[in-house]
Amino acid sequence: MSAVRGEFSSRFGFIMAAAGSAVGLGNIWGFPTQVASNGGAAFVLVYLVLAFLLAYPALMAELLIGRFAKANAVTALRKVASGRFSKNLGTATGFYGIVVASLILSFYGIVAGWMLAYWMEPLASLLGLRDGLVHSLGAQLFFTLLFMLGTILIITGGVKDGIEKWSSRLMPLMIMILFLLIIYVFTQPGAMSGLKAYLIPDFSRIGDRELIISALGQAFFSLSLGVGTMLIYGSYISKQENLPVLGGLVTMIDIGIAVMAGLLIIPAMHVALENGVEIFDASGALLAEDALVFTVLPALFDSMGFVGTLVGFAFFALMSIAALTSSISMLEVPVAYTVENHGITRSAATWWIGGVISMISLLVILNFERFFGFIVTFTTQFSQPLLGLMLCVFVGWIWHRDGILDEIKQGNPDVELGLFWKIWPVYVKFICPLIIVMTFGNTLFG
Ligand code: PHE
Repeated sequence: MSAVRGEFSSRFGFIMAAAGSAVGLGNIWGFPTQVASNGGAAFVLVYLVLAFLLAYPALMAELLIGRFAKANAVTALRKVASGRFSKNLGTATGFYGIVVASLILSFYGIVAGWMLAYWMEPLASLLGLRDGLVHSLGAQLFFTLLFMLGTILIITGGVKDGIEKWSSRLMPLMIMILFLLIIYVFTQPGAMSGLKAYLIPDFSRIGDRELIISALGQAFFSLSLGVGTMLIYGSYISKQENLPVLGGLVTMIDIGIAVMAGLLIIPAMHVALENGVEIFDASGALLAEDALVFTVLPALFDSMGFVGTLVGFAFFALMSIAALTSSISMLEVPVAYTVENHGITRSAATWWIGGVISMISLLVILNFERFFGFIVTFTTQFSQPLLGLMLCVFVGWIWHRDGILDEIKQGNPDVELGLFWKIWPVYVKFICPLIIVMTFGNTLFG
């Protein structure tokens, strides 16, 4: 066991770290992409409802378990459980989360590597490097490793001097770049028609099954749920803090930045249209996913001349920074477990685990068609909802209600009288599991 556990030094530090974990490629790429392919504002509406009603209660479950146990997911879930069976279930769930967090990092590092490559492209051409060099296979391997190296270096610094310090620096910077980009795009012709497409919902799509399933998956991914990241960050919060409020703030920042990112990307696509860039596919739907980020937007930046180079530079910086504050939270999950339960030093654990995950990333890059899609689906569509369900079961059915109340009262002595305590326990016990099972069943058998 390690001697002293890390702890966030301030409320601001925790909020930046947890919001940093939550705000990532899922917000700035995933969310606008989903909006583009799921009927614009209809998706935004369903997403807002699911994020507040489902993801927030699940986030609270993780933060509470973490802060109660002050330990990694495996130990924490065992501590919440009382019987032998539920303790073993805790071990299994904790391990499953650790594996999934590591696998998410392995594909996330690849995508983040692409962002780094696009970020560095203008510099590479200034240096006179061959056009397109940053997109070669060699460069992909290089930038993924570079990104993983950054992640590893921050995590070797520990909770306060690594995670908290870097999240507190990078998050405000990221938010500033986002705002500047939005302001710039709004001054461009075409932006307003994009804004309309983004804000006016096509109500006929709101009940769409696909749309609801996508929105649920997106909400879970975006709040970093299920895999133990929020649990471990929760374990580093002081007992004096009011958890429902902190969790609420993190949820609002996460949702707010996703909505802002939509405000950037959807209008930017229409600006691109105005500049003669193709933004619809053969069936008339908005281009989405990789075509959006790696074809439409670069074509837009190209069409804007020198300013476009600057805007592109800022945009891919934004993506890379957002990815980094998330990737560190993923790596912290296996590292915290190894340090706490196997007595290995943080730096050795980080280099080893980070090294193994980097190797997996390289293997995936070299066998992209075979592995990439599979890992994304297995982790985000299958495992995250399943793990989210397990965590709700632990809080709703296994952990004693008095224990939960004792924990939540710390930093919030009057919680029993408030709305949160009236609603939330019923929620995690019945409603969250039910909705997850229903949508999950749909994913599996639908
Ligand atoms: N929430 C991050 C994003 O939106 C992704 C993430 C998933 C981070 C799981 C940690 C754990 O990009």
